[in-house]
Amino acid sequence: MPEQEFTSAVDRSRTAYGDEGFSRFLRRAFLASRGYDDIDLDRPVVGIAVTTSDYNTCHRDMPALLEAVRRGVLEAGGLPLDFPTISLGEILTSPTSMLFRNLMAMDTEEMIRALPMDAAVLLGGCDKTVPAQLMAAASSDKPVMLEVVGPMMTGSWRGQRMGACTDCRRLWGEHRAGNLTSSDVTEARSELVTTAGTCAVMGTASTMACMAETLGMMLSGGATPGASTGERLRHGAATGRRAVELARQGAPAPRQVLTRDAFENAIKVLAALGGSTNALVHMVAVARRAGVDLSLADFDTIGAKVPLLVDCKPSGANYMEDFHRSGGLPALLKELEPHLTTSTVGISGRSLADLLTDTDPRADWQHVIRPLDDPLGPPGALAVLTGSLAPNGAVIKTSAASPSLMQHTGPAFVVDADQDIASILDDPDLDVTPDHVLVLRFAGPIAAGMPEAGALPIPAKLARSGTRDMVRISDARMSGTSYGTVVLHCDPEAAAGGPLAAVRNGDLIRLDIPARRLDLLVDEAEVQRRLADFTPPPLPERGWRRLYAETVLPPSQGADLSFL
Ligand code: FES
Ligand code: MG
Repeated sequence: MPEQEFTSAVDRSRTAYGDEGFSRFLRRAFLASRGYDDIDLDRPVVGIAVTTSDYNTCHRDMPALLEAVRRGVLEAGGLPLDFPTISLGEILTSPTSMLFRNLMAMDTEEMIRALPMDAAVLLGGCDKTVPAQLMAAASSDKPVMLEVVGPMMTGSWRGQRMGACTDCRRLWGEHRAGNLTSSDVTEARSELVTTAGTCAVMGTASTMACMAETLGMMLSGGATPGASTGERLRHGAATGRRAVELARQGAPAPRQVLTRDAFENAIKVLAALGGSTNALVHMVAVARRAGVDLSLADFDTIGAKVPLLVDCKPSGANYMEDFHRSGGLPALLKELEPHLTTSTVGISGRSLADLLTDTDPRADWQHVIRPLDDPLGPPGALAVLTGSLAPNGAVIKTSAASPSLMQHTGPAFVVDADQDIASILDDPDLDVTPDHVLVLRFAGPIAAGMPEAGALPIPAKLARSGTRDMVRISDARMSGTSYGTVVLHCDPEAAAGGPLAAVRNGDLIRLDIPARRLDLLVDEAEVQRRLADFTPPPLPERGWRRLYAETVLPPSQGADLSFL
């Protein structure tokens, strides 16, 4: 559409019923008080969602990124108008940021709909932010682009490179085992999170940034540039410029980008990344909103064709800055090209095949991205299990699990999420061996909002005698930066009367990852008898938590609210 025919969103969407002229008059009167005249307001409006907060340290540099996006919008002849949405910092949000992912998705979706804008740029980064924004985008009819703050840089302590949060967990594990003193870990603390930006490893934040870029909801090359780099700001400016083009076109709507082919590409990338288990819940939720039929089983069958290629913690040895210097996601996509459907077209307007002509094959100088013929690990980095303990599915990151525990049968040791788990597991007389299977329950979406509690600490007495991994099973999630033989997202959850609720200490549990099975070796009639006696815990009394617990879907369906 030629520019002179453009009618700004300021005039198109109405505020007063029955008198459109009065609505336009009022809007321009109020915007005049903000310093905007008709020259400003006759342009395409790009709304920019801002998610800064003193509680969200990962987004500390977002004001500079916002400035870059605004500059891009202005350069391309648009008007940038930013607006806040809820900000979810992973570490400071209790009981878990996951409880608020759907609230953020609602907030973002409704603001995109309510405020006059011709296109939106959503600024995010920290774990739940990108999933919530993708969900909001999928429910939106306006063109939407995502931009992330990017990962933090690494630090260094006593000659070791450090980066949140895999190293935070490793150091704390050594502290629990008695190998590092309190003053050691206090000293190391200041080197774990050295800059603004999202976690330094392939945790949930970077995994989901890579998902957003692969899906085509972010301009190419946007997932990995560091938060503190000029490249991040240049990408932000390019995003602002492109948003104006989308605003003028009024297309594509996110649902045109979020196709089944785009999701299949993303699942393959996830497998090559050895990405976060949380991506399975988030991607199912985004697909559901986009009207794409995507099941947990798809992650196993589609991902099973692609080996682990990216050598980043927690599945490998390196950090996000190394992945970025090796070419980042575009270089990985180039390596994966034979596996991908390259006719997909994202918000850049170019097909993936076309975008990949810009990428040099094997530009890698740090060997962080391994070639398909010499992968870091076998296919199946993320496996979906079913069995009598998880009839609707459970997930495990096999690439971060211990090979010796991939097939394991052991007696259960059960803890419930509302117990004082730390003091139970620290008990020097605890009756557990390394062969025990630690079971955590009542930590699913209904019971607790699905916290990242699934990587239970190794009981202190075992940690001190050298045990670093045990089979752990729960209806919780775990952090994307965690590692270990940890089975997560057991569905149905215990609070919904799932079989986890029937497990008792000493019951035998069998994990068989090659067979994709997770079974409670207790007679079915006995399990049914125990479940008949089960009383679900009471729901929260009021407010968001009540609405959430009453309407949240199970994790195998994305844990969105049923009516969204
Ligand atoms: Fe924000 Fe890890 S805490 S990305
Ligand atoms: Mg995390």
